[in-house]
Amino acid sequence: MSDSYRQAWDASVRDPEAFWGAAARAIDWFVPPERVHGADEGWFGGGVLNTAHNCLDRHVAAGRGDAAALIYDSPVTGQRREYSYSELLAETGRVAAMLRRLGVAKGDRVVLYMPMIPQTVFAMLACARIGAVHSVVFGGFAPLELAKRIDDAAPRVLLTASCGIEGSRVIAYKPMVDEALALADHPVERVVVFQRDALQAGLTAPRDLDWAELGAESAADPLPAPEPMAANDPLYILYTSGTTGTPKGVVREHGGHAVALAWSMANIYGIGAGDRFWAASDVGWVVGHSYIVYAPLLVGATTILFEGKPVGTPDPGTFWRTIAANQVKIFFTAPTAIRAIRKEDPDAAFLAQTGTGGLRAIFLAGERADPDTIAWLEEKSGLPVIDHWWQTELGWPAIATCFALGDLRRKRGSAGFPVPGYAFEVLGEDGRPVPTGASGSVTIKAPLPPGAFRTLWNNQAGFDRNFESFPGHYETGDAGHFDAEGFLHIMGRTDDIINVAGHRLSTGQMEEIVAQQDGIAECAVIGADDAVKGMIPVAFVVPRAGAADADTLVRQVIAAVRAELGAVAALKTAHVVPQLPKTRSGKILRNLLRKLANGEPFATPATIEDPAVPGLIAAALQKAHDSERV
Ligand code: COA
Ligand code: AMP
Repeated sequence: MSDSYRQAWDASVRDPEAFWGAAARAIDWFVPPERVHGADEGWFGGGVLNTAHNCLDRHVAAGRGDAAALIYDSPVTGQRREYSYSELLAETGRVAAMLRRLGVAKGDRVVLYMPMIPQTVFAMLACARIGAVHSVVFGGFAPLELAKRIDDAAPRVLLTASCGIEGSRVIAYKPMVDEALALADHPVERVVVFQRDALQAGLTAPRDLDWAELGAESAADPLPAPEPMAANDPLYILYTSGTTGTPKGVVREHGGHAVALAWSMANIYGIGAGDRFWAASDVGWVVGHSYIVYAPLLVGATTILFEGKPVGTPDPGTFWRTIAANQVKIFFTAPTAIRAIRKEDPDAAFLAQTGTGGLRAIFLAGERADPDTIAWLEEKSGLPVIDHWWQTELGWPAIATCFALGDLRRKRGSAGFPVPGYAFEVLGEDGRPVPTGASGSVTIKAPLPPGAFRTLWNNQAGFDRNFESFPGHYETGDAGHFDAEGFLHIMGRTDDIINVAGHRLSTGQMEEIVAQQDGIAECAVIGADDAVKGMIPVAFVVPRAGAADADTLVRQVIAAVRAELGAVAALKTAHVVPQLPKTRSGKILRNLLRKLANGEPFATPATIEDPAVPGLIAAALQKAHDSERV
């Protein structure tokens, strides 16, 4: 075991104030914090800072203006562009001036529905600079989901681009924005559209404005100075799936976020000024917020903004080429991406041909990393492959192997050890710690460390619910166990959230959509195993008397989830069944459905209302399977 890791973790729980007080020195404060932690005010009370200043201005002031800050590498457009810290500061300032011209002030919300282009990064940093609260909505969500976020965040301005590019397909964003605004109750004052070469969007005056024209008009405006922000002022809202159709708006605060991310770069990943770091995620997810945009810039490193996919843009060698060409030191991706690459290039011929340059380690997160995928990647790359675990709510890793503290202990199937700052307990239903090796609810002792959420936007009660089942503990919603060596194993969720290709989705939300369709008497959506995406949603529907034929119902259900939730839901399989398996008290036996969908052996539970139902469903699945093969 690494002594440095053990010492850091011990220090963080023994005296969190001393630990995080020291960590806060990595940040440039306009006014240093007066207190490290207070129950009501959270972390770094009295401190005043600006996150964009910490990401940009201070590096330029320190003479690092010419160092590379952002590399946009886009195999889907064939473009590659480097921005130095001075250039990124200037671009951010321009967008900040644009927003100011539109009347955006401290505390106003700005929604971004944008692809992986540099303008998205400029816009996030510009909001941070002027104290506006950004809320980035992932491009794979449908208009209705965007509308829900608009109504909750109540933004003054919405920023978008004419299109996203998904592999070889151009996805028009503006029509989706128009539809979302028509669905939303909240009136957005202005929509600013960045026109991309691949597609020009139609603009409707006076609401819609062209990004480039607005930029030209505001070119002579003074560049807004970084707004002084209290440590607990909100930096952004990021919506994530809860267990209902209403997304949860996780609020991130300036102070704790900056301190925690800077600490994580130095102590987990081993990244500092001048190093190149690549998180292959999307800015619409928390990984993108933390490790594409904020963390690398906070520590003066170079971040890679990659607009492409692990496969098909144009081949499964694109990750390795991007790593080698950009001299990436640490790479972070989701296991699903590695499985997709392996499927197309099982012998890793592309990896062998390109090599991994100066890469030191590969980190995985977003879903459980299956041991087989880790073994393959370690063998083919010759590098440590480190699984680590966290959530949108936390904002940065909570379980990991702290590589930068000299720890290399790994066990395939485990996400590692509690990261300094996090005191985990695995609790049973009675609220008591379960014995080592036994499974239970994975919880973290309150208070959560800096960077973690302290409220949900417009929904304090929703936040409080996370602490209700186990008083004094945050309930992560995951189930798992500690083993005898102290490794923490995360085995799945205790609620109806599933992870599809590293994307967090709620089966409960999909059920709400399916249940509303004509001809559906009852339904259940479960997560079935998938060789590439880890999990995929599968719907089971019971038709009403007189409903359309089974094929029509299936098409209708799939189309409805895609239209209402978005392509990202990836619901492609629905089965029409005569009944759902239920207990005598009417609870749907979802585990049984999961086993049936996976084709696993199952035992009929003693509590089942009608023991014939599993057999009927198995027969319906077999019939569907046979007809697919014909
Ligand atoms: N804008 C618009 N549509 C999007 C989108 C975006 N930003 N992102 C995804 N979509 C669409 C896709 O085009 C696809 O649509 P389709 O059903 O018409 O083909 C659908 O949403 C599902 O996308 P995805 O889950 O990405 O599946 P895929 O089959 O296109 O690709 C992988 C599979 C494994 C290659 C891909 O999911 C991947 O790279 N995953 C890594 C995820 C990741 O990094 N997560 C970060 C969390 S740490
Ligand atoms: P998100 O908020 O989108 O980051 O999703 C968080 C959820 O993804 C967690 O609660 C876990 O269920 C799952 N998850 C993330 N990383 C891992 C991991 N390394 N191992 C297992 N599950 C993970």
